[in-house]
Amino acid sequence: MNYTLTSTVGLPGGVKMPILGLGTFLSEPGPTTRQAVMWALEVGYRHIDTARIYDNERDVGEGVRESGISRSEVFITTKVWNDDQGYDSALRACEASLKRLGTDYVDLYLIHWPVPQKRRETWRALIRLWEEKTARAIGVSNFMIRHLDELLGTSDVVPAVNQVEISPFIQRKALVDYCRSKGIVVEAYSPLSRGQRLKDPRLVAMAKKYGKTPAQIALRWVIQQGIVAIPKSVHRERIVENAAIFDFAIDEKDMAEITRWDEHCSVLEAWEPETSNLWD
Ligand SMILES: NC(=O)c1ccc[n+]([C@@H]2O[C@H](COP(=O)([O-])OP(=O)(O)OC[C@H]3O[C@@H](n4cnc5c(N)ncnc54)[C@H](OP(=O)(O)O)[C@@H]3O)[C@@H](O)[C@H]2O)c1
Repeated sequence: MNYTLTSTVGLPGGVKMPILGLGTFLSEPGPTTRQAVMWALEVGYRHIDTARIYDNERDVGEGVRESGISRSEVFITTKVWNDDQGYDSALRACEASLKRLGTDYVDLYLIHWPVPQKRRETWRALIRLWEEKTARAIGVSNFMIRHLDELLGTSDVVPAVNQVEISPFIQRKALVDYCRSKGIVVEAYSPLSRGQRLKDPRLVAMAKKYGKTPAQIALRWVIQQGIVAIPKSVHRERIVENAAIFDFAIDEKDMAEITRWDEHCSVLEAWEPETSNLWD
């Protein structure tokens, strides 16, 4: 498949999700986030990922408006934070997020973490938001196979997306295969391992071979599998660099080589949802 910066993956109801988006976790509220969003839109990104807990929804909304690009052309994701989970509180949380974003709908609303005892009621609230068209698509984040099995056992509505940490160093193959088998689009967060593994000698060598940067190899490896990627940067040159991944392809042999780098190495530590019992 030949991807471009405007390539999308299909979600239920004809919703189109751009394969590359801008992440905004730890993107400082205020001008820093506004500027990053505007640069990304100027470069051609049409997808921004935020969350209530990032404290920058207002700036994401302002960045989109100031860019002059129409709201309908930008795919905006936000998420219900853990202490807002539950039926009524999730509905209220979405309303508050919309107000901060300055929009009357989100393209994708996610359950940020599978909070025990709360996630089921939260999912019911998201279904209502989807039925009311307040959220064009709904999904989950940090859900492992056990959480998805539980959700699908109690709901007929399949999450459109599961946003989880994926990079060459944490590949989650079983989860990706499971999601594909259920028609759930996989979205990779921390695809650059938050910058922590970009000096890995194997990644550096492969980057040299393709005349690309380590970040570009990591991102190309993600999207070449049809997985959505949302690298974060507040620097213009990196926002540009992270989008310059559509003029080359990693060959089959090297895709297979990267598969061997999987170490289940997460940036999350104690919260890692596969191994932690915090989310049981
Ligand atoms: N659902 C969840 O629980 C969850 C969890 C984590 C993240 N996310 C989402 O996923 C997005 C991406 O994940 P992330 O922010 O954790 O990590 P990431 O995108 O893997 O890495 C971001 C870090 O890498 C740096 N960077 C960006 N481009 C670079 C490049 N080309 N070369 C070198 N360094 C580069 C950034 O620095 P500068 O900004 O200084 O350039 C930042 O420190 C988040 O922003 C957020 O939207 C979701």
